[in-house]
Amino acid sequence: MDIQQLLKIEEATLADLDEILEIEVRAYPVPWSRDQMMDVFNQKVIRLKLLMDGQLIGYAFVSIILDEGHLLHITVDPIHHGKRLGRYLLEEVLKLGDTHQLATIFLEVREGNTPARALYDRIGFNQVGVRKGYYPCKINGREDAIVMAYTVPSDTFNFQLS
Ligand SMILES: CC(C)(COP(=O)(O)OP(=O)(O)OC[C@H]1O[C@@H](n2cnc3c(N)ncnc32)[C@H](O)[C@@H]1OP(=O)(O)O)[C@@H](O)C(=O)NCCC(=O)NCCS
Repeated sequence: MDIQQLLKIEEATLADLDEILEIEVRAYPVPWSRDQMMDVFNQKVIRLKLLMDGQLIGYAFVSIILDEGHLLHITVDPIHHGKRLGRYLLEEVLKLGDTHQLATIFLEVREGNTPARALYDRIGFNQVGVRKGYYPCKINGREDAIVMAYTVPSDTFNFQLS
C-alpha cells in the first residue's frame, strides 16, 4: 500500500502531550522540557500532528504574527526518518502560508543539524541570518542557529485587483 494513504494531519491537543514528549526525547540531543512544550499548548500556536495508520509519528508547531509565520518545531519519530515524512509534514506547514495569507515563514535550525538543513534547502528555504550561540549543547557550550526564510509565492494569494 502507498504510505501516503496511511498518513493524516490533525490538530495536536494536550491529550497528545505524553506521546509527543516520548518522541521528543529520542529525536533531539537537547529536547524541549515538558514546561517548554506546555508553553506551546498554552499559547496561540498552530499545532499539527502527523499520524500514520492512526499512530502519532510527528508534529510541527507554527506561530503566526500578522503576515509572518514562525516554524517553532518540526519533528518526525526517529524510527521513521528518511521516508519523506518530514517533507510531507513541512509541506503541510507551507500550506498555512496560503490559508493564512502569509508573506514569509521563518525558522531557526542548529548549524550542525544536517538532515533538517538539507530538508529546508530542498523545500525552498533560504538562509537569512545567524544567531550566535542560540542553542545550548548537550554537554557544554553553545551552537549557532541558522535563520532561514521561505517566501510564500504571491500567486497563491487570491488578490482582487478590480
Ligand atoms: C529533520 C527531520 C524532520 C527530517 O525528517 P525525515 O522524515 O527524516 O526527512 P525526509 O525523509 O522527509 O527527507 C526530506 C529531505 O531532507 C533531506 N534529508 C533528510 N534526512 C537527511 C540526512 N540524514 N542527511 C542528508 N539529508 C537529509 C533530504 O534532502 C531529503 O530529501 P530527498 O529524500 O529527496 O533527498 C527529521 O530528521 C527529524 O525529526 N529530526 C529530529 C528533529 C529535528 O532536528 N527537527 C528540526 C529542528 S530545526
